[in-house]
Amino acid sequence: MSTLTLDLPGGGYPIHIGAGLLGSVDLLRAPVSGDRVAIITNEVVAPLYLSRLTEALAPFDPAIVVLPDGETQKALDTIDRIVGALLKARCDRATTLFALGGGVVGDITGFAAAVYQRGVPFVQVPTTLLSQVDSSVGGKTGVNHALGKNMIGCFYQPRAVLIDTTTLTTLPDRELSAGLAEVIKYAAIGNREFLGWLEQNMEALLRRDASALAYAIETSCRDKARVVMADEREAGVRALLNFGHTFGHAIEGAMGYGRWLHGEAVAVGMVMAARLSERLGWLAADEGRRLRALIARACLPVTPPAIAPQRFLELMAVDKKAAHGRIRFVLLRALGDAFLTDEVPEDALMALLTAHE
Ligand code: NAD
Ligand code: GLY
Repeated sequence: MSTLTLDLPGGGYPIHIGAGLLGSVDLLRAPVSGDRVAIITNEVVAPLYLSRLTEALAPFDPAIVVLPDGETQKALDTIDRIVGALLKARCDRATTLFALGGGVVGDITGFAAAVYQRGVPFVQVPTTLLSQVDSSVGGKTGVNHALGKNMIGCFYQPRAVLIDTTTLTTLPDRELSAGLAEVIKYAAIGNREFLGWLEQNMEALLRRDASALAYAIETSCRDKARVVMADEREAGVRALLNFGHTFGHAIEGAMGYGRWLHGEAVAVGMVMAARLSERLGWLAADEGRRLRALIARACLPVTPPAIAPQRFLELMAVDKKAAHGRIRFVLLRALGDAFLTDEVPEDALMALLTAHE
């Protein structure tokens, strides 16, 4: 097992990474400060892993909330449902919430924890690769609105993140690849050495080699923690973690939440951001080709779905990363060297979107 620490002014927390951590009673109980816990999970994850967590937390009389599966659950209605269940179970302000599941359960639970009785502690127990390398770390919580992804939410940090890497053995292949998109993101924006490692080890990751996965998760969490510690509220450098997301969120919104997986949309979004970087003369063509080849080797899409350019623009304009009416993009000067800009000429953007229509 390895443990990273994310230090923040409001209090740091450990990120434990290891095989079989759902059996580590001490690690699971350590972040509980009161005498009660509630576990929020979903109908897919519950039959696989809920009993282990419930057993470990038995002295805290766990209240259990099992949500339906899917991105469409990331909605205010679900928060209302969780609050209702917690109240019925007589959970008070000293209750610690546990998020057991992927990024959807994690984002919803974090937001529910932030607002339940003005805030209760929560713990992330992520079970998808995407949530283990990204969404469980850093305290972004929230739900979607019909007009935009993640438009309702807040920064609210967990007490601990417990990553049991053996949960990945039951993850569908498509979801594993979706997680690899966020792994590739860290390499593309700031870790060229990791990019080389991913090129060497992509097949091992796809066949779920335990040590390759552990290394990729640890490297991703370390990179993410470093960025979050430097800029918790996304005033600057944290925005680089949104590489591929301006295009990706627009794809998710245009296609209807859940049809394209978040990681798939981000994969295509990274390809589009790299192509835009090439068009604007920032990125050499062979660097763009190298990124596309790695994304394709991770069994991820590299071509966007057919979306009218005007619709694409509208959805990107609503994205949180649009500041003062201008869409902000994370672009590349080179692989491992990303920067933020809102000075993308509209004709270059339209040419890119038209080329992909
Ligand atoms: P998800 O939570 O929908 O999980 C994917 C699927 O895998 C679901 O069907 C889920 O039930 C299932 N599943 C989960 N664990 C499993 C396991 N061990 N075995 C078998 N099936 C399992 O999707 P995700 O990719 O984990 O997360 C995507 C969400 O995360 C999006 O809503 C995205 O916006 C959000 N996100 C948030 C942040 C953040 O910083 N908060 C960062 C990135 C993404
Ligand atoms: N997933 C981007 C961030 O946490 O900032």
